[in-house]
Amino acid sequence: MEFPPRPELFDFHGVSMTHYFTDTWERVQTFKARPDDILIVTYPKAGTTWVSYILDLLYFGQTSPERLTSIPIYDRVPFLEIARLPMHSGVERAENLPTSPRIIKTHLPVQFIPKSFWEQNCKIVYVARNAKDDVVSYFHFDCMFMIEPDPGDWNSYLKRFMEGKVAFGSWYDHVNGWWKKKQTYSNLHYMFYEDMTEDCAKELDKLCSFLGLSPSLEEKKQIINEVQFDNMKNNDMVNCSTNPRMNLKISPFMRKGKVGDWKNHFTVAQNEEFDEDYKRKMKDPTLHFRTDICDGRGIMIVTLRHYYGS
Ligand code: A3P
Repeated sequence: MEFPPRPELFDFHGVSMTHYFTDTWERVQTFKARPDDILIVTYPKAGTTWVSYILDLLYFGQTSPERLTSIPIYDRVPFLEIARLPMHSGVERAENLPTSPRIIKTHLPVQFIPKSFWEQNCKIVYVARNAKDDVVSYFHFDCMFMIEPDPGDWNSYLKRFMEGKVAFGSWYDHVNGWWKKKQTYSNLHYMFYEDMTEDCAKELDKLCSFLGLSPSLEEKKQIINEVQFDNMKNNDMVNCSTNPRMNLKISPFMRKGKVGDWKNHFTVAQNEEFDEDYKRKMKDPTLHFRTDICDGRGIMIVTLRHYYGS
């Protein structure tokens, strides 16, 4: 398989971007949101696909189950700013979505969101993931996804991540910018990858309450089961195995799905430097990330207790 040359990063209104995410900028900015559109926003690798799948199942899992086995998740939940010509751009895909609501994803920092989403008071689901696991996931992703800039080696990648020199810019600005927005925009649900990993059922309930949905217990159990890491990994409609730009021989898209995998990548020196820098950049004490949680067995018990009682 021939892959295209890797794109270069450039400064785009103060944020590092590649042309794949700016080529349709005019159309992104003038996108006409509808009041019932739901926007999923993440910094890359925070669990976008996971939450996209959950939302898709919540809205359409019962009414159009055939979607689940015939349309890849990246077509069911289009990526607004992607411009992979000659294929349809994300904007076109979003415009042509036949569903109601339309569920759309974006990695844009808060200042770049098309204004119609604010004007229409759309519901926004923001998912954040701790920086250490995020950068590890992003590194592996950039190694295998040929439309990302060349990641280089791990040590240089980590430094560039800290400087915001990766696509979509600084993780620190992204999570903080959206956290601040939450204080003034009430239709924003800010959730954490770590909480999802620890107790997916609880996070599903919170999500449903934000969206104004009340699925049956049976339906919720089905969703929780469907979106478990191993089930998603084996599901060709969500594991990106149909994406021709990904070289899954280098790394699978559904890679580990864990909190704390950063410990297998960071050296002691890298960790110390990262922590020092983190303290300087993350000044808001109300925004707290966890880089560690209990193990998988504990998680399963928490989830089962949630549904069946202890
Ligand atoms: P890892 O690379 O750490 O495994 P995104 O969809 O934003 O690109 O995020 C991808 C990351 O989310 C990957 O992380 C992937 O494994 C993880 N992920 C996707 N679905 C998951 C699930 N059901 N449970 C846990 N992690 C999941």
